[in-house]
Amino acid sequence: MEDCQKASLPIIEDDVYGDLWFEQPPPKPLKANDKQGSVLYIGSVSKTFSPGLRIGWIDGPEPVINRLADIKMQTDYGSSSISQFLVNKWLKNGYEEDLTLVRSELKCRRDYMIEILNTYFSNIATWNIPSGGFYIWLKITPSISTRKLFEKALQEGILLNPGNIYDKDDHTHLRLSYSYATLDQIKKGLKRISELIIEMM
Ligand SMILES: Cc1ncc(COP(=O)(O)O)c(C=O)c1O
Repeated sequence: MEDCQKASLPIIEDDVYGDLWFEQPPPKPLKANDKQGSVLYIGSVSKTFSPGLRIGWIDGPEPVINRLADIKMQTDYGSSSISQFLVNKWLKNGYEEDLTLVRSELKCRRDYMIEILNTYFSNIATWNIPSGGFYIWLKITPSISTRKLFEKALQEGILLNPGNIYDKDDHTHLRLSYSYATLDQIKKGLKRISELIIEMM
């Protein structure tokens, strides 16, 4: 943040997963120490409550917010009043309780996915154990084409997120999400992916 401030570069702090921690809360956001108004802080209910509501927020200096509000008005005339009403109600009443539930549910799903990875991937991949959020960043260790793996998996109804979606030069990672699929789908999908990788080696 100091370097950016010296160079007069604004920071966009995208913290939509910030509330979804498991064992302990993360450090405070950069925005908490932003005395110069150089951080635009973004939050959303998409990951904690419902993406369909299309409600998020941004905290930044007033002139920037005024410009963005104008662009938003010209783009979509503002977010649905019903969605805003619902989210307002939820933030006032239910937010903490629901988050506790979402965190513990996500943690169980993370633990389950790690168990499945230990069973099927211990010789063909390495991975991190996330301390929050939805995703495991899986590094496939044999030299195979993740593009081909993507195509083969797709033919079997498994949609993968290969690393090159996030970094065009990445050809070794998959982003696995444990947030939406059922535990059974997670198991079946991962088992099949491990078999495809072994076939491609
Ligand atoms: C890091 C990050 N930021 C922002 C968003 C956008 O969320 P939404 O536009 O649904 O509020 C997403 C959604 O996938 C995300 O992963």
